[in-house]
Amino acid sequence: MDRSTISRARVAHAQTAPDTDGFCLNPDLIRSIFTHAKPVGHHESPENLNLGFGYLYYALARILRPKHVLVIGSGFGFSVVCLALGLRDNAKGRVSFVDPSYSVLTDGPFKTVGGTAQWDDPDKVARHFARFGVERLLTHYRLRSEEFFTRYDELALPDIDLTFIDGSHAYKVARVEHHDRHNAVTFAAPACC
Ligand SMILES: C[S@@+](CC[C@H](N)C(=O)[O-])C[C@H]1O[C@@H](n2cnc3c(N)ncnc32)[C@H](O)[C@@H]1O
Repeated sequence: MDRSTISRARVAHAQTAPDTDGFCLNPDLIRSIFTHAKPVGHHESPENLNLGFGYLYYALARILRPKHVLVIGSGFGFSVVCLALGLRDNAKGRVSFVDPSYSVLTDGPFKTVGGTAQWDDPDKVARHFARFGVERLLTHYRLRSEEFFTRYDELALPDIDLTFIDGSHAYKVARVEHHDRHNAVTFAAPACC
């Protein structure tokens, strides 16, 4: 396996210690999400700490209690963080985050809608998610979704329970991403496709 294309933020383990009261969201954490995970277009409202659809992503993780969540594409990790925080409070599950770290400046608008190459450096990726206490719950694959699915068996990952799509936004790619092999609940970013 070509390890150079796969940057693991940490080896993802399914179990983690729950917060004392099983609920990690608090005003400081939400402020940190706004500052560092920089949501755009998720009906968020920073002035009153309203995460908008972020609450839905968190809630879906809490309601469905997935063992394996797949996130395809994220500018600064907003969806990844909200879903991973749900898993953290469930004390169960892991996230596979797939993003080739495209930059609209260097790769152009046909490769990414607004990407800013945030996922180039594995240590930086780990530090980014450590802010939210979820770095041990996720693995970043620096791949395009098409490559990820091609290599799925090789990567020896479990079936996917929940998929969030916010990557290429191109129809032919989105069709691949709406995969049926894993029987997963699949939903897309508000502005996707
Ligand atoms: C603009 S971001 C999504 C932004 C999102 N609305 C948010 O707030 O986080 C798009 C991301 O999709 C990634 N991307 C582009 N093509 C992709 C593909 N084929 N597979 C996975 N990710 C892809 C880019 O690298 C970029 O980081």
